[in-house]
Amino acid sequence: MPARLKSEVLSVGHKVLPFAAAGLALGAVLLMNGGLSATPQTPEATPATPPNAPKTASEQFKNIQVLKDIPADQLIPAMQFITASLDVECEYCHVRGAFDKDDKKAKVTARKMITMMLAINKDNFEGHREVTCYSCHRGAANPIATPVIAKEESTTVEEPASSEKSVLPSADQLLDRYLAAVGGAAALQKITSRAAKGTATFSGQSVAVDVYAKAPDKRLSVMHLKDGDSLTAFDGHQGWLSVPSRVHMMSAAENAAARIDADFYFPIDVKTLYEKYRVEPGEKIDSHDTYLVIGQKESQPPLRLYFDTQTGLLIRLVRYADTPLGRNPTQIDYADYRESNGIKVPFRWTLARPGNRFTIQVEQLKLNVEIDDGKFAPPPPQKPAAK
Ligand code: HEC
Ligand code: HEC
Repeated sequence: MPARLKSEVLSVGHKVLPFAAAGLALGAVLLMNGGLSATPQTPEATPATPPNAPKTASEQFKNIQVLKDIPADQLIPAMQFITASLDVECEYCHVRGAFDKDDKKAKVTARKMITMMLAINKDNFEGHREVTCYSCHRGAANPIATPVIAKEESTTVEEPASSEKSVLPSADQLLDRYLAAVGGAAALQKITSRAAKGTATFSGQSVAVDVYAKAPDKRLSVMHLKDGDSLTAFDGHQGWLSVPSRVHMMSAAENAAARIDADFYFPIDVKTLYEKYRVEPGEKIDSHDTYLVIGQKESQPPLRLYFDTQTGLLIRLVRYADTPLGRNPTQIDYADYRESNGIKVPFRWTLARPGNRFTIQVEQLKLNVEIDDGKFAPPPPQKPAAK
């Protein structure tokens, strides 16, 4: 099987794995054999030691002509945004194993397109990133210039009546209701750790997975793959991903996402994570009607939370990672909530991004188990795998 270097997959030998092994985790990273540095930072680079001035893309990569000044760790997320916008794979523009080469015409065109996109926004939108690759491309390499004729009669989507809008609950009410629905703050705080065993399913295969979480903000998931374990973790400060002989320390944007996923008391903390919350009627998810609460914070992408109008439970979370070219979305759907020790826990979740998705089904859950903090710490740096 040829390794498809698609967004959020980690290519190990000839296998391609979904990155964020762990359910709630992230990814947004690619480690390529012989390509990107496999050990970008040392794990000791915790907040205690001030980080060196971050490298720019042109300092880290060989042939950057337009995105020169962006932080180096934003280049791959930007590439993933491009890849998702055109619905192609990295190889559409790149020669495998030689990402700096300009041999493919599509790469040369893409470079012009980046310049064009920046100019459109500068000249027409006061530099705000309004137009992105996706605005025109919409998941195709060649944008369509002519309106299409509908294939079938359009099925009318029910618009929420304006009277319905006026009766939307407030964000406070919905967030309170969510907290109550999962058992309330007192019951939640009696739980300080979780250990779950289950199965991860992606592209037709299933593997065993272990997920550990510890209050207030530690999380580790381990996917047991044939070639070894794939780990995704957040130790309270730093997130990391690893496969045998490779470790990736998360970038700032990835850490921010990992922190949300690792927030052990998320139903309690969510009310203070964002400055402002707005409510809208949400779409139907899996035949459940929803309310949508949108969390907003100055100069940060929003967080979208969909609550079941009946149960008050969170059934979808959508977050975004900013890149220099646009936002990469991640959607997590929660299902199969079950009661345990007075709290409700989702036993199934599906993490989806443009181009990949996987589902974790928990089979066994233990609460308040002893988990050593060391379990969440990144492994020591290792030499890249000999090939
Ligand atoms: C539509 C075309 C296109 C796609 C698809 C694409 N890239 Fe790129 N990539 C570019 C362009 C253009 C540059 C150079 C940007 C510049 O000059 O500022 C680049 C540069 C790079 C570089 C820097 C190489 C160097 O050393 O100079 C890496 C690494 C890279 N891309 C990785 C990826 C990965 C990984 C993917 C798949 C997730 C991907 N790219 C998908 C167009 C693309
Ligand atoms: C304002 C609209 C618009 C935006 C924004 C835009 N493109 Fe395009 N792009 C086009 C059109 C139109 C074509 C097709 C030109 C043609 O058919 O010759 C195209 C063609 C391309 C092609 C060549 C496809 C092929 O192989 O034939 C690539 C690659 C590409 N765009 C990448 C990008 C990337 C990457 C971005 C974002 C940085 C982007 N485009 C933003 C309109 C746009």
